[in-house]
Amino acid sequence: MKFFLDTADIDAIAELNDLGMVDGVTTNPSIIMKSGRDIMEVTKEICDIVSGPVSAEVVATKADDMIAEGRKLAEIAENITVKLPLTWDGLKACKTLSGEGKMVNVTLCFSPNQALLAAKAGATFISPFVGRLDDINLDGMELIEDIRTIYDNYNFETEILVASIRSVNHVLDSARIGADVITAPPAVIKKMADHVLTDKGLDAFMKDWAKTGQSIL
Ligand code: E4P
Repeated sequence: MKFFLDTADIDAIAELNDLGMVDGVTTNPSIIMKSGRDIMEVTKEICDIVSGPVSAEVVATKADDMIAEGRKLAEIAENITVKLPLTWDGLKACKTLSGEGKMVNVTLCFSPNQALLAAKAGATFISPFVGRLDDINLDGMELIEDIRTIYDNYNFETEILVASIRSVNHVLDSARIGADVITAPPAVIKKMADHVLTDKGLDAFMKDWAKTGQSIL
C-alpha cells in the first residue's frame, strides 16, 4: 500500500520522505490556505522533494476552466496529479485531461456510484473521504470495501486513494481491505509506530541494562 502525505508542510514532507515513507502528496485548497504559501510555489517545492504523484486541486467549477487550470498546474512538474471534484464538470475535465496523458485524482467522492463514474472517465486515482462520512454517522470504510469490490469486478485500473483519514485505524482498515493508497496527515503516519507495550518493554530493557554496568560503544 502506498503512503501519500495529506499536507503542504515542507518540513514534515522532507522528514518522512527521507525515511522512505512518502510515495506521494495530496493537497487541496484548504491545505494551501493553511500553508499560507502561494499554490504554484509551494507545490513546486513539494515536487522537488517527492518523486511520486503530487496532487494539486483546481478551483474552477466549469469543465473548460478546470481543464485550463489543470493544464497550468500540470506544468509545475512531471509528477503533478490534477485533482478534480466529483461533479459532472469534473468528470468531463477528467476525461479530457486523462486523455492528454495527465494523472488525475478525482476527489470529494462519497458513494460507490461516484467512484464508478470516475473510473469510467479515466481517473488515475479516486479519493473517497472516509473521515467526513464517519463525521455524519455513516461508515467510511464500507465505502472503501464497495469500491474495491466494484473495481475488482471489472478490472478498473483506477487506484483507490483513501482520503480524509483521521486515525491509525483508518490506515489499518484500508490495508485490510486492499486499498491502493492512503493519504494521511504526517501525525497519523508517525502515530502508527506507537505502542504502549513497546514503550514499556524498552523501559524495562533500559533499566536492566543499566544494572549490567556495560556499554556497547
Ligand atoms: C485529500 O485528498 C483530501 O482533500 C483530504 O484528505 C481531506 O481531509 P479532511 O476531510 O480531513 O479535510
